[in-house]
This record gives sequence, C-alpha cells and structure tokens, in this order.
Amino acid sequence: MTEKVGKLLYTGKAKDVYETDDPNHVIVKFRDDITAGDGEKKDNINMKGYYNSLISAKLFQVLEDAGIKTQYIKLVEPRYMLSHRLEMIPLEVIARNKAAGSLLRRFPFEEDQEFVPPLIQMDYKSDEFGDPMLNDEIAIALGLVNREEIRKIKEITLKINNTLKKFLEEKGITLVDFKIEFGFDKDRNIVLGDEISPDTCRFWDIKTCDTLDKDLFRKGESGVIEAYRKVALMLLDDEEKNRWGLE
Ligand code: TMP
Ligand code: ASP
Repeated sequence: MTEKVGKLLYTGKAKDVYETDDPNHVIVKFRDDITAGDGEKKDNINMKGYYNSLISAKLFQVLEDAGIKTQYIKLVEPRYMLSHRLEMIPLEVIARNKAAGSLLRRFPFEEDQEFVPPLIQMDYKSDEFGDPMLNDEIAIALGLVNREEIRKIKEITLKINNTLKKFLEEKGITLVDFKIEFGFDKDRNIVLGDEISPDTCRFWDIKTCDTLDKDLFRKGESGVIEAYRKVALMLLDDEEKNRWGLE
C-alpha cells in the first residue's frame, strides 16, 4: 500500500481507524464483520468490507461532486479509505423517504408511506443507552452540538438525500432511508464521516423491489453478500470496476 498504516486509533463494529503519517488524515479499514440489534447478532461475511468500501467511496465522491464536504480523500485499495481526521459527533442522523424498519415498529405509519420532504430523525449514538431517539433540545443540552450546528446538519442531510436519491434512481435503486454520521474537522466545520453502504442504508431494487441491504441479515435471510455485490455492480462504472477488480 502506498500510504503508511500507523497505530490503531479506534475500532468499531465493522470498521477500524488507523493513524497515518499526516496527523490530519486517517485510514478507515472496512472489515467483514456484520452485526445487528446492538451487536446481539454477529457474523463475518467474506468480502463485505471490500464491497462496502467501494460503495462508500463511490457515494462519497458523488456527494463531493455535489459540493458536500465529506471525510473522503481516496480509496487507497479496496477496504482502505484515506480520510480526513474528524472529531465524530455521537449522533446517528437518519433520513427517511419511505416508512420502514423501526419507524413502523414504533409509530402507526403505513408500510411504504412516502415522506416528501423526507423525515429527519436523530438518535444518540451510545451502546450503553441503546441509541435512543433524541430531539434538538436534548442534543444541545448534552453538549453535542449547538443550535446553528443542528440546523446545518439537517440542511446538509437534506442535500445528501436529494443527491443520493437522484443518483441511485438513475442506477436502478430506491433509497428508502439511511443513517449518516458527522464530525468536526480541525476548523470545526461539519463534515460527513463514517460510511454510506448497504450496512447503513435501505436500498430496494427499483424493478423487483428486492431488498439489497443489511435488512437481509437482520431478518436472517440468505443472499446478503450477493445483494452487496449487486449494489457495487450497479453503482460503479467500468473504469472503477476494472481498477478494483470488481466482477
Ligand atoms: P431503523 O429503521 O432500524 O431505525 O433504521 C433506519 C436506517 O438507519 C436504516 O437505513 C438502517 C440504518 N441503521 C444504521 O445504519 N445503524 C443502526 O444501528 C440502525 C439501527 C439503523
Ligand atoms: N448497527 C447496529 C448493530 O451493529 C444495528 C443495525 O444496524 O441494525 O448492532
């Protein structure tokens, strides 16, 4: 690898973060581990990290091209993403274009009900507290962000949704919902971090309505890695497929 992978800084449920020679940069490594239900259900799926790194890199690039600040610098090789170092904000920001998942378990929405504009929800990222849903007041009182930063986070999230929804539609995928995480860069700019992949989004095939994301794993269904591969094949162009050996 051209970049030097330094000390392990952080290890999460599916990714590791390493230092590099540059204090403002890190390497994010996408692993094959997969979990659901706060880590209750665990597995290791060969190639998952490979596909998720390719899909995340592609979607970060699409967002960068639309003028959205992301952590993404480049994919050094599959699974290894060179990124700007961020101080992550412990919020899971969720945008929903259709009712699915926990929203249907918690509220009387109809399945597939459309939200225009999309619903934006925030959960507090904390294994200890079970990622509870919170509102602006609670996020501010916890000292995670100030009011202006929350406003910005929502504005950027809507722009991310518009950009991704349109791009994915052109590729044959419905963006049902997704979860993103933001961080502060060294100048306290709000920057999109983490990943955007079938682990963190609901993707449905536009033609068949087939699920192409982690819901397959959550529900114990087969074909998880085949779905992730299909998403990568649908999103990457021929030059990218050749470069990363995707077939
Ligand atoms: P939910 O309907 O289960 O709340 O999920 C909403 C979206 O957030 C869905 O696209 C999956 C994603 N998600 C994560 O990325 N991480 C999580 O821990 C959870 C619960 C959901
Ligand atoms: N990401 C969560 C976990 O790892 C749950 C989920 O995505 O469903 O437990």
